Amino acid sequence: MKKKLWSGRFLESTNKLVDNFTASIPFDWKLYKYDIAGSIAHAKMLAKTGIIKKAEADKIVNGLKAIEKEIDAGKFKFSIEDEDIHMAVEKRLISLIGDTGKKLHTARSRNDQVALDIRLYLRDEIKNIISLIDRFQKSLLIIAKKNIDVIMPGYTHLQQAQPILFAHYILAYCEMFKRDRDRLLDCYKRANVMPLGSGALAGTTFPIDRGYTARLLGFDDVTKNSLDAVSDRDFIIEFLSAASIIIMHLSRMSEELIIWSSSEFGFIELPDAFCTGSSMMPQKKNPDVPELVRGKTGRIYSHLISLLVTMKGLPLAYNKDMQEDKEPLFDTVDTLKASLEVFSGMIKGLKINTKRIESSMSDGLILATDAADYLVQKGVPFRSSHEIVGRIVSYCLKEKKALTSLTLSEWKRFSPDFKEDILNFASLEKAVERRNHIGGTAKKQVLKRIREIEQV
Ligand code: ARG
Repeated sequence: MKKKLWSGRFLESTNKLVDNFTASIPFDWKLYKYDIAGSIAHAKMLAKTGIIKKAEADKIVNGLKAIEKEIDAGKFKFSIEDEDIHMAVEKRLISLIGDTGKKLHTARSRNDQVALDIRLYLRDEIKNIISLIDRFQKSLLIIAKKNIDVIMPGYTHLQQAQPILFAHYILAYCEMFKRDRDRLLDCYKRANVMPLGSGALAGTTFPIDRGYTARLLGFDDVTKNSLDAVSDRDFIIEFLSAASIIIMHLSRMSEELIIWSSSEFGFIELPDAFCTGSSMMPQKKNPDVPELVRGKTGRIYSHLISLLVTMKGLPLAYNKDMQEDKEPLFDTVDTLKASLEVFSGMIKGLKINTKRIESSMSDGLILATDAADYLVQKGVPFRSSHEIVGRIVSYCLKEKKALTSLTLSEWKRFSPDFKEDILNFASLEKAVERRNHIGGTAKKQVLKRIREIEQV
């Protein structure tokens, strides 16, 4: 019978199928650095409180450091029988340093250990993702500034609505990613609480010093209820939800990049280095990157739903179901990081086709709201001015005339309140400049917002 670290009460060895089915080592080996860091802090705490001797802790710490090097170097042999990363490291420790290694698990359970490991992992990854968001924001600001005078159609229902600065469009995404960043920071606060000491579920009989372990590992606080601490996965769900919102934002932008780079729109060109060709059609340049980011959205949403469903109805405290938290979490982190990284690179090389954008608005109808607003300024109630301009639009469509090409007498045919200054009023530049208030698309406002975002 192959001996397991917990095999004392068992008369038979585990069925091979069960070993394979219950093991998390194929994916949780990724936590090794955190597992070892947690164990080192735990061993130091055990020594500080006199639960083990200082010399024993030193031996454990050195053993753990050696194991970390073995894993780093790819020399560590992971085995399904070890079940998970916690047992794999502990077993190796015992084989390296002997009986002293058996003392490491004093006052600890894998239940509080795994909770600690994921928190340590997530803290790091949240920081990594935040810096990728920052990099992406920088790329966005660069193209916003580079194209600060480009005016494009703003859309509702994907129908031309009102003119906006291209930079204003880009800044809309900066606002989204700013909120995403805040959500991650908020999620970090709840991940940054130390669960060790909760034991299997009820705490431990040893005189531990949880504050000391927390300080060693850079935690802000310690968890306050052992049952909750070993069964809480809220912080992962919060992260998956923040990640879902981030990828949703990337996906919305992807959709626009895909549409705008089509030959029908031709507003933008994606850099060659970020597109792919077709194996059959020589002319094709496909926007695979934004398409794939859009596609990966489903995958991240599914991870959020999967963990919510896993946790639903679980009795306190730890249940093995919770082992299902790791793969969705790891995949979300990897997918999100890859998406943010490739997007930053792609955005930097974006080319804006100003001529195509301009000609898409050549019928001038996008200025209809401004014409209605003009009449309001001359004292016409908005509902009436809306009606009048509606008739002008219909006239333009029938006569195939641009709104911006109407003569004063044509304007006057619809309302005597149109004066000479309407000819000057109905221009894209003026329409943009008139929206000069916080949140508006006027260049002054957009530049101000760029500066504000750059400062944080
Ligand atoms: N591999 C387990 C997990 O990921 C670690 C905790 C196991 N605890 C237990 N009592 N079996 O959840």
